[in-house]
Amino acid sequence: MERTLAIIKPDAVARRIAGRILQRIEEAGLQIRAMRLVRLSKVEAEGFYAVHRERPFFPGLTEFMSSGPAIVLVLEGEEAIGRWRRLMGATDPATADGGTIRKDFGSSIERNATHGSDAPETAAFEVGYFFPGIELASAG
Ligand code: CMP
Repeated sequence: MERTLAIIKPDAVARRIAGRILQRIEEAGLQIRAMRLVRLSKVEAEGFYAVHRERPFFPGLTEFMSSGPAIVLVLEGEEAIGRWRRLMGATDPATADGGTIRKDFGSSIERNATHGSDAPETAAFEVGYFFPGIELASAG
């Protein structure tokens, strides 16, 4: 069993397509273990994306991620990290495969509708960033 942190980004929430993204998660058989609507501050977005601190897109990314409500989720299942990444598709919607979330709902590499952890170590950090008490909850 694996857990991953998913975010339905502010562009998708603002366009009222969060429900369609949640439907894809459910249809894929990934279990929603936790879910919360958040309005990140700039500082919280900077902390979450700290690994990208030196990248040229960091200011724009953190500005966008703190521009409106987003939905953070913990997804659980066999190979949840890879399965969620395949459902999302490539980071840039322009190069994402047809039928993926980013192809269907993303509008630019920044406004790409969703985020997902890229490895078990990042998943542990990212899940803990938003759901620090999750290990204490039952896995039912
Ligand atoms: P995400 O999966 O949230 O992880 C980091 C984000 O940075 C990524 O999705 C993109 O939205 C964004 N990103 C990555 N590369 C670029 C880029 N070249 N220009 C703008 N944003 C980028």
